[in-house]
Amino acid sequence: MNNLAEAPALAPLHRLDAASLAALFTDAKTAYRFAPTPVSDDELRSIWDLAKWPPTSANFQTLRVLYVQSPEARQRLVGHLHEANQEKTLAAPAVAVLAYDRQFQEHLPLVAPHVAARQSYFAENETLRIDLARNNSWLQAGYFILAARSEGLAVGPMGGFDPAAIDADFFPEGRWASFMVVNLGHPVADSYRDRLPRLKHDDVIRFV
Ligand SMILES: Cc1cc2nc3c(=O)[nH]c(=O)nc-3n(C[C@H](O)[C@H](O)[C@H](O)COP(=O)(O)O)c2cc1C
Repeated sequence: MNNLAEAPALAPLHRLDAASLAALFTDAKTAYRFAPTPVSDDELRSIWDLAKWPPTSANFQTLRVLYVQSPEARQRLVGHLHEANQEKTLAAPAVAVLAYDRQFQEHLPLVAPHVAARQSYFAENETLRIDLARNNSWLQAGYFILAARSEGLAVGPMGGFDPAAIDADFFPEGRWASFMVVNLGHPVADSYRDRLPRLKHDDVIRFV
């Protein structure tokens, strides 16, 4: 008998109910305007309390998050965004800059002790290290968006900005590298735009 057959059964995983699926996926849209209701630091911290659980390569957890809180910092950030993204970001109750950690390998003894011996290998191989950092952080950005929605927040992700300018201004030590800016808040009647079409099964899925 093989090990699989011997493993005791676990309770089956359950599908989310319709209201949860709507909040995360089917009704959730990108938000472009927000209610003036503030978003508390606890609400912002709670996003990571969820977003930290889904998988990353060897558990690397390369994502870093800067919440741009003060009016002065918000003005500086907005100056680095494409014009179309400026007004909504100035008005959003909360804004996160998502970045990847260019030196994520320093955390390996804690988060990935099974590969901690490769710390110096990653330190010396910048191309591989930055690829891992960037790819895993994009993956975690998806988790971040779904975690924020799970906390009842509306989310407006943006790629229209000058990453070099944000990095020079907010991460001058050269370790964090920005790749997405995310507006967060509570929705109002005109938060959303009409849905654009989604691809169909036949365009996306193959079975072999
Ligand atoms: C990585 C990324 C970059 C985006 N960049 C911008 C942007 O710079 N400005 C903007 O207004 N919307 C931006 N969006 C929003 C997308 O256009 C929007 O999420 C998409 O059209 C789906 O809209 P829906 O969620 O309302 O269905 C971005 C979204 C993502 C995920």
